[in-house]
Amino acid sequence: MNLKDLYINFFIEKGHKQIPSAPVVPENDPSVLFNTAGMQPLVPYLMGQAHPYGTRLCDYQKCIRTNDLESIGDKTHHTFFEMLGNWSLGDYFKQESISYSFEFLTKTLNIPIEKLAVTVFEGNEDIPRDEVSANIWKSLGISENKIAYLDASNNFWIAGESGPCGPDTEIFYFRSNDEVPDKFDPNDERWVEIWNNVFMQYNKDVNGTITELPKKNVDTGMGLERVVAVLEGVDDNYKTSVWKDIINTIEIISGKTYEGNEKSMRIIADHIRTAVFISADPSSIKPSNTDQGYILRRLIRRAIRHAKKLDIAIESDFEQSIANAIMDKYTKYYKEIEDNRQIVLDVLKEEKNKFNKTLEKGLREFEKITSKITNNKLDKDNAFKLYDTYGFPIELTVELANELNIEVDVDGFNEKYKQHQELSRTASSGKFKGGLAGNDDVEIKYHTATHLLNAALKIVVDENVHQKGSNITSERMRFDFSCDHKLSDEEKDNVQTLVNKWIQEGIDVTKQEMSKEDAIKSGAECMFIEKYPDVVTVYSIGDISKELCGGPHVQNTNELGEFIIKKEEASSSGVRRIKAILK
Ligand code: SER
Repeated sequence: MNLKDLYINFFIEKGHKQIPSAPVVPENDPSVLFNTAGMQPLVPYLMGQAHPYGTRLCDYQKCIRTNDLESIGDKTHHTFFEMLGNWSLGDYFKQESISYSFEFLTKTLNIPIEKLAVTVFEGNEDIPRDEVSANIWKSLGISENKIAYLDASNNFWIAGESGPCGPDTEIFYFRSNDEVPDKFDPNDERWVEIWNNVFMQYNKDVNGTITELPKKNVDTGMGLERVVAVLEGVDDNYKTSVWKDIINTIEIISGKTYEGNEKSMRIIADHIRTAVFISADPSSIKPSNTDQGYILRRLIRRAIRHAKKLDIAIESDFEQSIANAIMDKYTKYYKEIEDNRQIVLDVLKEEKNKFNKTLEKGLREFEKITSKITNNKLDKDNAFKLYDTYGFPIELTVELANELNIEVDVDGFNEKYKQHQELSRTASSGKFKGGLAGNDDVEIKYHTATHLLNAALKIVVDENVHQKGSNITSERMRFDFSCDHKLSDEEKDNVQTLVNKWIQEGIDVTKQEMSKEDAIKSGAECMFIEKYPDVVTVYSIGDISKELCGGPHVQNTNELGEFIIKKEEASSSGVRRIKAILK
């Protein structure tokens, strides 16, 4: 049995319910592009809301981290990875949590106790030294010199700056054939962290104030790829059973061996896997020049460039074969992969064809530019030309240049990029004045439409309707809201009519900056108050709607066209979803 199944079975036996992995693009959290940790979709429940599955949960969660994309290509980094997690929402606390982890590692996985060591929180002025956890570890047989007390930078966990948090205890495994040292040294790289148990009993607000949460929770996370590598006794994650078939497929396609071509093969494998999971996500992300779509584009283009480095024929179906090999491994666990297999394959092919048209010429242009460089610097104009004419994401230019020890003027590029965006937007719409951060005009209209819909639902359905999420593409909008019943045809009609009435009335959309406190006092609507900075932007549409929002929006509702509700359905328990278009 593999690690995922062993883990889930173990925690189910301990009274946990398995919850499905949330989508990689968070549905209810506009502040991040991707889910970066297993606990992220559980934040409302860690904050005190009751979870429909109860108080003991476990899962494997799809995560994507894009903060160190440049590191991909080494032995251990991945853009997409799976995190195994178990949670107690005000149920068990340190004793059971630590005992379960210990039992799973030493009994289910048969890891010898001598190869384990742990860190615990040493305490600070706010929170006491975690002797409770240390004593539990000792009672289970972990010797005193295998326990290290570390400061908050190591043993206090929080996702970002604010939110649910708490001291944690991290479990390390001795990955080496050397004799296990008597004393645990967390700086000795032979000790690898494999599991993190966070005791989430606090909330840190945006001002840094720490208060107790209503309940004491446990949040644990174990990176699947890393633990599989540990268990299989290799120090290169790409040599484990997780990747073997995929690397093998790339070896066959390229006619080259992994040995000697590790970096490119790892990048191709990792990036296509992430592109598969983004494209198969219910959010229907497509390659574009903004947000998640831009990450998707970068990943595919970088994978293609590395395929070219391996002399793979780009026009062949190589990316289809690799993606299929990846999908075959995951369909058992993620239904969306099978359901959306063709969509994924089409996304990859289309983006590849788009890039392939200019790739060859772009690479020649890059060589021409760099052959003339004398000061080891590639200027902003050339970087922009590679982007604009040849579709080279700036990060790709930087990577190519770095291989020649050439530095790229990225700041200069970004400035030029911004000017260009503003110019083309002003030209195409005739009315937008910059600051619109790359959203296209249609998406901006949909964005304003979500505010109108939110307001209309409150009037027609129930004043307690709240937005639970939204997702916009240039083809449609999706809006999730709290509501305990299926909307009747009459309710849907009335909502649609009201939104269209406001559109026809031509109401101005205005923007104001104010302190978060004033915004709340003024009754502005907002999804995740704790996520916002102290000074916020509030968008008002006449006196119909007032919401905390980063924008951008149209200037007047008469720009929207006709609003049509296409579908109203259940999203999750107590949450309904409307799909609508503007015509
Ligand atoms: N939230 C913690 C982490 O991501 C434990 O799951 O490490």
